[in-house]
This record gives sequence, structure tokens and C-alpha cells, in this order.
Amino acid sequence: MELLHDPAAAQAWCEDARSRGHDLGFVPTMGALHEGHLSLIRRSAQENARTVVSVFVNPLQFDEAADFESYPQDLDKDASLAGDAGADLVFSGRLDQFFEGELNAAGELPTEHLRNPGPAALGLEGEHRQGHFAGVATIVARLFRFAAPSRAYFGAKDYQQSLVVRSCCDDKGRPDVIICPTLRESSGLAMSSRNKRLNGAEREHALHLVVALRAAHAAWEAGARDAAELEGVLAASLAPAVDTGEIELEYAAIRDPEQWSATRPDGRLTSAVALLAARVGTVRLIDNARLDQVPFGVGGVL
Ligand code: PAF
Repeated sequence: MELLHDPAAAQAWCEDARSRGHDLGFVPTMGALHEGHLSLIRRSAQENARTVVSVFVNPLQFDEAADFESYPQDLDKDASLAGDAGADLVFSGRLDQFFEGELNAAGELPTEHLRNPGPAALGLEGEHRQGHFAGVATIVARLFRFAAPSRAYFGAKDYQQSLVVRSCCDDKGRPDVIICPTLRESSGLAMSSRNKRLNGAEREHALHLVVALRAAHAAWEAGARDAAELEGVLAASLAPAVDTGEIELEYAAIRDPEQWSATRPDGRLTSAVALLAARVGTVRLIDNARLDQVPFGVGGVL
């Protein structure tokens, strides 16, 4: 496994691999790798001759300086975990290397260089984290350009992101974007790099999200097909935790996975995804579940 600290060197490595006829699978990450990331790397290693992992805590997608500054970083550990999971190349870099010659005197990327993340960025995460998806789309498109992979792997936990990144493919629709199931701890808690920042009590409180998703799933199984009714189920399940301050809810929403809409869809749904965002202590967590699909998590029970 090779570790490169320069995206241009990584680009050359990828070009060389492609020129030898190797299919490239790509797993973009912000590091702090957990089992969820490793499952993406393992899948890529199964489906591609070479697997490339990027580790870059992208400042463009953070709407809160404190979140960016406290984001866990340990590149050597991440590289070793990625290598064990089957990565052939791990690369990182600085913002000025990813956007060579594009940063202003303050070392920032001018807003006109940001990519429009498209309609999937409207509502929910896009509304609560201003500029987040423009930052994600900008770095993902750039990473795709450096690595030029055949396939790229993302986790379903970032549901809305998984829709946004499809808009970062080139005009031939490359790479193939493959969305992999959310990995869960045995408690049901969705794996996230941010879980590291939860204390014992907060880990318990975070489970309210899982309980709410289960309640919505049960309501769907019992025949509920109306988004407002299903949102009511989520809200009722979360209400006690909100009242006691154990969680601070940002949204509990239902969307039609076949057709993203910024606001709640009308009419009878034939498929549905429940999406949640909440703060537990200082940590902002998101989770989601397809209500019309079973199983909707791997590793733990939802
Ligand atoms: O999901 C993430 O870790 C990030 O949003 C991504 C896709 C690596 C872009 O920085």
C-alpha cells in the first residue's frame, strides 16, 4: 500500500494503474476511518483491480469552524487501516494542492470556484448546513478528476450527499457511483466518525434516533403511506427526548427516494426514506432509513 501526500502524485499513480489496464475503485473519505469506511474499501477491493482512498478533511464543506477544528485526524492510522482493508493507494493533500493556483490571498477558494450541487442539495441538510453541499460537490468533483476511477463508493448514511455526488460525475456519467448500506453498531447506532466525540450518556441519547426510525418503519409496515403521518410518528417518538433536552432535533422528515424534493412530498408514497438530524451534546448526528426496504442496516439491528 502506498501513501502519497500530494494529489498530483496520486493522479500520476492512478494514470499509471489505468494505463496497465487496471480498473480503479475509489473511496473518498475525511479520515477517522471506522468499520463503515472499511466496508466501502473492502467492497471496492472486491470489485476493482486497484482501490484508491483519499483522506482529506475538506474545509469547504464545514459550516462551523469548531466542527472543522475538532474533526479527528490521524493520517498514518487511517492509511494503515485502509491498507489492511485492501486499499492500494491512500492519498491526502492540502487545499492549495487540490486547487492549485485558485486560492485567494487569504488561502480560501473564491465562492465562484464552488460547484453548484444541484437540486438534491435543497432542503434538510442543505438548509441546515448552508454551503455544505457546494463544498462537498466541489471537492468530490475535484477528487474524481484526480483519481478518474471507474467506480466510487459512498455510504448511505449520508443520504442526501449520495444524491449530490451523482452530479459530480463527468459528462459520460463516470464514475459509477455505488451507494453502500449504513453500518451500525450492535445497539443500532449508525457508525460515524463523530461518534468518537459522544460520552457514555450521549451514546445512550443518540439511540433515540434509532428508536424513531424503527417506529417509522413499523408504521410503514402497518400501512402508513402519507408523509405527514409518518413525520408525525417520528416526531412523537422523539418528543420525550426533545422535552428532556437529551437531543436537540434539527429535522425529522420523510422524502420520496424516487424523487428528491426540498419539502415534504404530497400524496400516497410507494417508497419512503426517513431522515433525521439532531445534536446530542455538542455532536451533530444524522441518520436515515428506507422504510420500504428490509434489511435497512448492516451490522446491528435498527
Ligand atoms: O462523506 C464524506 O466523508 C465527505 O463528505 C466526502 C464525500 C469525503 C467529501 O469530503
